[in-house]
Amino acid sequence: MSGDLPATLERPHVFVPAEPGAAGPPLLLLHGTGGSEHDLVPLRNLLSPGAAVLSPRGMVLEGGMSRFFRRLAEGVFDEDDLSRRADELADFVTAASSAYSIATGTLVAVGFSNGSNIASAMLLGHPRLLRGALLVAAMVPYASPPTVDLSGVDVLVSNGERDPMIPASMTAELGRQLRERGAHVTDLPHGGGHQLDPGSLRRAAKLLGSLARP
Ligand code: MLT
Repeated sequence: MSGDLPATLERPHVFVPAEPGAAGPPLLLLHGTGGSEHDLVPLRNLLSPGAAVLSPRGMVLEGGMSRFFRRLAEGVFDEDDLSRRADELADFVTAASSAYSIATGTLVAVGFSNGSNIASAMLLGHPRLLRGALLVAAMVPYASPPTVDLSGVDVLVSNGERDPMIPASMTAELGRQLRERGAHVTDLPHGGGHQLDPGSLRRAAKLLGSLARP
């Protein structure tokens, strides 16, 4: 990053431009707790080969670990902070999209764990910002989410059946909240835990490939 970047872009991030002929959607990569903006970049080859990639760092530190928003305890979110941080991240995404020529509403968020939870919060707070999301190891971001229109938004949920932090009832509630607001939600469950599952990601890649770029 250079000193010429607008203030909203002064967040550590990785940007990889699209390669000619890339067919899939551009990706907004959101890492998990203790991760960095570099973690998920290798997923580009599988999920949307050659696509533009924007990968910001979560700016909250918890015991030295980067996150996208504060939590009060494991699995207990500070919803006010979540909402504020989702707004900040949306501002960053808007500024970066303009700086890097990514068309509005085309990014698909790919979040892991904490990254998936801020992705859900962005969908709910900024419903026209994203084309869709792949939520991996995803929880319910808000007990009572705002009433928004998510029609035209595709959401893939890749949760593990043996995830000690995410019971099946929570995955079902997340899907219910998003569907109730008009999102098209596809569950891609796997037999593992709180993790990226290769089989589930391959299924996600096929579905992402069918999301036409405008
Ligand atoms: C995490 O460890 O990141 C949690 O599972 C999810 C969160 O706190 O957002």
